[in-house]
Amino acid sequence: VGSVLLDVTMSLDGFITGPNAGVDLPLGEGGLRLHAWMTRPGPRQGIDWHQTAASEVDARVKHELFARAGAVVMGRRSFDVGIGPWADTPFPVPCFVVTHRAREDLVEPSGTFTFVTEGTERAVQRARAAAGERDVCLMGADIAQQCLTAGLLDELHLHVAPMLIGDGRRLFGRPGAGHIELEPTSVIQSPHVTHLRFRVVTQEPP
Ligand SMILES: NC(=O)c1ccc[n+]([C@@H]2O[C@H](COP(=O)([O-])OP(=O)(O)OC[C@H]3O[C@@H](n4cnc5c(N)ncnc54)[C@H](OP(=O)(O)O)[C@@H]3O)[C@@H](O)[C@H]2O)c1
Repeated sequence: VGSVLLDVTMSLDGFITGPNAGVDLPLGEGGLRLHAWMTRPGPRQGIDWHQTAASEVDARVKHELFARAGAVVMGRRSFDVGIGPWADTPFPVPCFVVTHRAREDLVEPSGTFTFVTEGTERAVQRARAAAGERDVCLMGADIAQQCLTAGLLDELHLHVAPMLIGDGRRLFGRPGAGHIELEPTSVIQSPHVTHLRFRVVTQEPP
């Protein structure tokens, strides 16, 4: 069985977007810099996972992520701001969108978005079934925080960008998350970010 994996790029001060993120600015003001490690400047500059990574080290990390991903669980906000730039699913796998707003499946060239209104845990359950032996990747701070609090997360892959963005969507710090112990499993330095990997070891209620 694969892991439930949070793989996300964060500023050193803990933000996954800059301020004022929205459909016109998916990563917020100054937030594109976060993803510099996984893209090269080009005509479709932005959140484009299909572009080549910025260095060989980054390309290897990105390749591993794509190889491990068997399904995605994302929050509705990640879907709403991402679907334009992606013009497809973010990974070529089934994607489950946690939302209060029911919607028909959306079939894209590389996979299908399924909208789940029964909560995050149910979406993770469905994604696990779809992923088989591969991993379930989470997208969105809200969804990630819910999974952390519920003890659903197995691994944390943080790509820490050398910037203090000051404001935006915070990855951690949700009240009620409790005390979570992590085991560091690897550190990979690239010219653009520090790739940190952790395994979730124990979780005590607050
Ligand atoms: N830096 C990175 O690597 C990275 C990666 C991914 C995303 N991002 C950015 O992160 C931002 C999105 O993250 P976010 O934390 O703001 O939001 P999110 O987790 O993507 O989505 C939150 C939304 O999901 C729905 N939702 C959440 N829990 C639910 C539940 N239990 N039941 C039903 N619906 C539920 C709600 O939408 P509704 O009520 O409207 O349905 C909620 O507003 C975007 O700007 C994206 O670009 C950055």
